Amino acid sequence: MSKKFIAGNWKLNPDTGEQAIELCWQLKIALAPFVKVKIAVCPPSIVLPMIAEFFKGTNVAVGAQDIYWEDAGAFTGEISGPMIKSAGCSHVIIGHSERRQYFGETNQTVHKKINAALRHNLLPIVCVGETLEQRESSVMKDIVREQIVEALSGMQDILLGNLVIAYEPVWAIGTGKTATPEQAQEMHRFIRELLTENFSESLSETTPILYGGSVKADNAAELFSQPDIDGALVGGASLKADSFAAIVKSGEELS
Ligand code: PGA
Repeated sequence: MSKKFIAGNWKLNPDTGEQAIELCWQLKIALAPFVKVKIAVCPPSIVLPMIAEFFKGTNVAVGAQDIYWEDAGAFTGEISGPMIKSAGCSHVIIGHSERRQYFGETNQTVHKKINAALRHNLLPIVCVGETLEQRESSVMKDIVREQIVEALSGMQDILLGNLVIAYEPVWAIGTGKTATPEQAQEMHRFIRELLTENFSESLSETTPILYGGSVKADNAAELFSQPDIDGALVGGASLKADSFAAIVKSGEELS
């Protein structure tokens, strides 16, 4: 897979629509030169329609940070596939570790959300990754296997060409502690193999596997040069146009 995919996860930022549009203007200018990479930003849901409209026809796709599995009904506070689609989005992050940690997301809810995304033609970016405790007790591969196998069970045909996985070790998210390129590569290779074993060779070959966890301008190139790292899901560094553009540039050079 040669074309790198760099997605920005804005999380709960920024405070106002004006600040969001200001960031979009800076991103539009900074990202304009990059034509070989795939780029997406995932802002909070309240500004999605405005931002998707802003980036329409550009090299920047727009995604949501979560989706509910039902299409409509009495589910206060949720946003649905039809809403995300009609807002102009093409992607959705599912199962981010913060949602698992603070909002009760499980492999079963991730499974239902992937189904909902696919029903509405939204590309799911499915996040997996172990905690520090799990890494220290050497169960990270079991955890990631369980996260992937349970989330994707029974779906292999529809997933072909319609899945992105983000490996994000929880201990590296927002901590400034990046996995070393070797640690990340080892887990990406493991994910690639487990897709082959549990699903199919073609799913394994065609699914981009992104790394996430304190990706910055100064570590992106080294990560992207690993054979099984197809791009990045970027949190903190995606909130400044210059740092996000520098990461995208590294992806462009290796695409
Ligand atoms: P970070 O976040 O880049 O701020 O570590 C990554 C993520 O949570 O997707």
